[in-house]
Amino acid sequence: MQAVLTLKNAIKGTKLFSFLYYVRFLYRAFPQACSNLHRQVKNDLSVFPKALGYGYTVYDLTELNESYLCSMVALATGRSYEETANYFAELKNDQELAAHFALKISGNPGLQELYGQKMKYRARIGWYAVCRALKPKVVIETGIATGIGSCIVAAALKKNESEGYPGYYYGLEINETQGYFFDSSFKKYGEIVWGDSVQSLKNFSLPIDLLITDSSHTAAHEEEEYRAMASKLSPQAIVIANNAHNRSTLLNFARQSRRRFVFFREEAARHWRPVGGMGIAFK
Ligand SMILES: C[S@@+](CC[C@H](N)C(=O)[O-])C[C@H]1O[C@@H](n2cnc3c(N)ncnc32)[C@H](O)[C@@H]1O
Repeated sequence: MQAVLTLKNAIKGTKLFSFLYYVRFLYRAFPQACSNLHRQVKNDLSVFPKALGYGYTVYDLTELNESYLCSMVALATGRSYEETANYFAELKNDQELAAHFALKISGNPGLQELYGQKMKYRARIGWYAVCRALKPKVVIETGIATGIGSCIVAAALKKNESEGYPGYYYGLEINETQGYFFDSSFKKYGEIVWGDSVQSLKNFSLPIDLLITDSSHTAAHEEEEYRAMASKLSPQAIVIANNAHNRSTLLNFARQSRRRFVFFREEAARHWRPVGGMGIAFK
């Protein structure tokens, strides 16, 4: 108590004292609003150190941002806005997928703390819609981490199959402890190929209809991925880069391979953190 009084006397008359006095006044006048704001700031700050390690993975897109994504995917796939919006809605209403994520999250306290009860799909909702519109036979994702994108792509492939368009997913991942979400229920629609993505792409022999690059966060590695798979893309293949907010690697590849390129920057709902962006290269 004595220490508090000493500190109070030391800062009395300073701007800091006025500021703290003002904060105390606000807390007393608007206790509920201040406590809500405090909780929000605390949550945001507590996520920050984790976000450094996890790569800012936990947010929803704003409604406006999602509608821009929908428009961009419609453009890249040559489908209408309405059809694309239906694919978005289909994913958001996929109770089986949501239940799968919820179950796996509930079994892992670390992920529970990170994701909360409900998985946030972010711009991967665009991957789903591309997959539904394109009806690819072969999809490759480089870098799968816990396997959120893997499950979302597999859910799209499952729907495609039910409509008579079977396809298969390959997740190329170097870290063999990854793939937590992509468990047995999804194995019918794809598999994880362990090892360096560039080497795996070099070894790959099937035509690739959809490629999603999201592995090593260096431009040099991403360039090598494009070099390794360029000759294996099917004529109407689409390439998505999840790091296009950081570098022009996919734009460069699109220009070299005579593809068009569009870029989408995520806008996080109810959050201030830096967000990601994705590029799409298409014919
Ligand atoms: C950003 S995370 C991928 C996130 C994932 N695509 C998703 O949708 O949640 C990057 C992943 O790439 C993997 N990775 C890094 N270097 C790699 C390499 N050379 N080959 C394959 N995977 C790699 C990392 O182990 C990590 O799991």
